[in-house]
Amino acid sequence: MKLALIGFGVVGQGLVRILHEKQKLLAEQYGFRAGIVAVADKIRGTLAHPDGLDPLALLKTTTFDTYPETQGLIRDLGSSEDLIRQSNADVMIEVTPTHLKTGEPALSYCRLALETGKHVVTTNKGPIALAYAELSDLARQKGLYLGFEGTVMAGTPTMTLGLNALAGCTVSEIRGILNGTTNYILTQMEAGQPYSAVLEEAQALGYAEADPTADVEGFDALSKVLILANTLMGGRLRVEDVPCKGITSLTLEDIRRAQQEQKRWKLIGSVRRDNDGVVAARVEPVLLPLSDPLASVSGVTNAITFTTDLLGSITVVGPGAGQLPTGFAVLSDLLQIHRRG
Ligand code: HSE
Repeated sequence: MKLALIGFGVVGQGLVRILHEKQKLLAEQYGFRAGIVAVADKIRGTLAHPDGLDPLALLKTTTFDTYPETQGLIRDLGSSEDLIRQSNADVMIEVTPTHLKTGEPALSYCRLALETGKHVVTTNKGPIALAYAELSDLARQKGLYLGFEGTVMAGTPTMTLGLNALAGCTVSEIRGILNGTTNYILTQMEAGQPYSAVLEEAQALGYAEADPTADVEGFDALSKVLILANTLMGGRLRVEDVPCKGITSLTLEDIRRAQQEQKRWKLIGSVRRDNDGVVAARVEPVLLPLSDPLASVSGVTNAITFTTDLLGSITVVGPGAGQLPTGFAVLSDLLQIHRRG
């Protein structure tokens, strides 16, 4: 499978590491062999080789100028759009930073890749939260795969669970802790640390979005709720349809009072479908009793509960961010494409 990588930050590097370290296992167990034929990164530049680039040499670069000269290597392919258009890749992997207002430039990259006959795998929340209907229609028309497992809860199976494993069940509600940064902040506040100090810590640990307002005001969780509503629950919701409140108004005193009442504040994203098929979603801090499975999920860990007719409630708990968990999300989509043949 020939891969073009748009973005070579935390997630792109994570994927290249996984593909390199698991090369033998993936080939022997699944007959899966993949090579990176093109890569574009805002800081490092662009590189392509129709027969594949060397993953270890890529990981050593801070700028692609230092990538070793080899026969057939193409430098400076121009813009990411040029690279997508000209590449011989089967799959475009879009892992640039998320812009929740416009979804750009990722949305245009996804459109172009599908229009030029490439499957798309992305961990970028913007295009899926804002334009899932358009992109999935385009993918369907072209007979291509649109993978987005990593947009919600990184590689912890969420989309695969909802789309494949639970097919045949009717899901009436999905609710979860969908943002690691705010869950980390709330957990540390329970230990008595003030909000501002913990936010700085979360930024230093690399959990927070480039602009952490997206985390603490609930917008990151909102984007994930839109993805769940529109991909798994048949919704057509837009940002303005979802009431959204973050955690900035919660004080240490609120948290202490909750502890005394044997309860815990969590930032909960929820989607419900009523009996008439109307889908509604919201993001807000909720005071949960300790008996709720989501109440015991602490730190950056995420969790999601699906309420179904045939199985009752199913809760999945796991990482929602980080290099290897998100790199793995891309791998799981690539393996889905591989299995389709
Ligand atoms: N900033 C996000 C979080 C990253 O804290 O969960 C993963 O989407």
